[in-house]
Amino acid sequence: MAILVLGGAGYIGSHTVYELIQAGREVAVVDNLQTGFREAVHPKARFHQADIRDRAALSRIFDQEKVEGVIHFAASSQVGESMDHPLQYYDNNLGGTLALLQEMTAHGVDKLVFSSTAAVYGEPERVPILEGDTLSPTNCYGETKRSMERMIGWAARAHGLRYVALRYFNACGAHPSGTIGEAHNPETHLIPLVLQVPAGRREKILIFGDDYPTKDGTCVRDYVHVSDLAQAHILALDSLLAGGESDVFNLGNGVGFTVREVIETARQVTGHPIPAQVAPRRPGDPAQLIASSQKAMDKLGWRPRYNRLEDILATAWAWHSAHPEGYRSR
Ligand code: UFG
Repeated sequence: MAILVLGGAGYIGSHTVYELIQAGREVAVVDNLQTGFREAVHPKARFHQADIRDRAALSRIFDQEKVEGVIHFAASSQVGESMDHPLQYYDNNLGGTLALLQEMTAHGVDKLVFSSTAAVYGEPERVPILEGDTLSPTNCYGETKRSMERMIGWAARAHGLRYVALRYFNACGAHPSGTIGEAHNPETHLIPLVLQVPAGRREKILIFGDDYPTKDGTCVRDYVHVSDLAQAHILALDSLLAGGESDVFNLGNGVGFTVREVIETARQVTGHPIPAQVAPRRPGDPAQLIASSQKAMDKLGWRPRYNRLEDILATAWAWHSAHPEGYRSR
């Protein structure tokens, strides 16, 4: 029986596939390679190049593979892009999830682990954020993820499906082997952009706003290692396979770091001065996002292994310094 990983050639998907294979699981990956990379797919996983909105292709894959559970990462995930192209986000994120749920129910597959995001909360009412806090996304990306959660929730009620939605905070770092890592084009995330400076691809890093109500005026985020996120998916899947109920969990370290602290830690890890310059605020950035992941720890037994920013950045640096241009090809 295989675990079907949709979006298994992307950043968090590829790391989850590595952890699944490491744990001795049989894995089949589906990815349209629009933003993912064939090279990121573990050689022991079976690979199907397909778009999950293509129901006929998805149906054939469900016919070929004996699927015991699905992990769904296949979605567009850039906040800025979602504001410029909202309909593309509805098409890919909701259209893809709709086709997936239709094919899962048609093929009698009833267990789903799903990538959600801290962006479903929008500007938080308090930190640390709890799963029951108000969902009020401030961008189209977060809105589509909230809608995906809801679509899955209604389908689950009607069709006897069980699911776990995992709301990630700031995913970062790379596999400790240095073979896979973060590669977005264009890159918008802080840590890979900071590391482009010592990698010789950028002269300086811009700090988007230093007048937030935080300890040094820059935004606070909860950085969580991608391998820890990957482990949480396996725990979530295993809870469903063991008969567990549908649920939703935050995934973060529960500790916030400012933009300046991230840059300073990157200087220590890389030994490079990394010049920084303050720039205007980026629209839509909340001042602070910090998770309470107590529920994932209590109910899934999740224990993030990377709780030191230095260690997280060291794995990211190992990847970026060895692959300054990312993967060689799609
Ligand atoms: N930042 C800079 N300079 C840069 C890039 C980012 O100062 O060049 C700052 C941002 O303003 C923000 C922090 O670094 O304060 C982190 O920014 P990222 O873009 O790395 O991450 P975000 O917190 O904006 O986004 C993350 C996830 C999204 C998710 C969002 C929820 O990557 O998928 O949290 O709000 F939607």
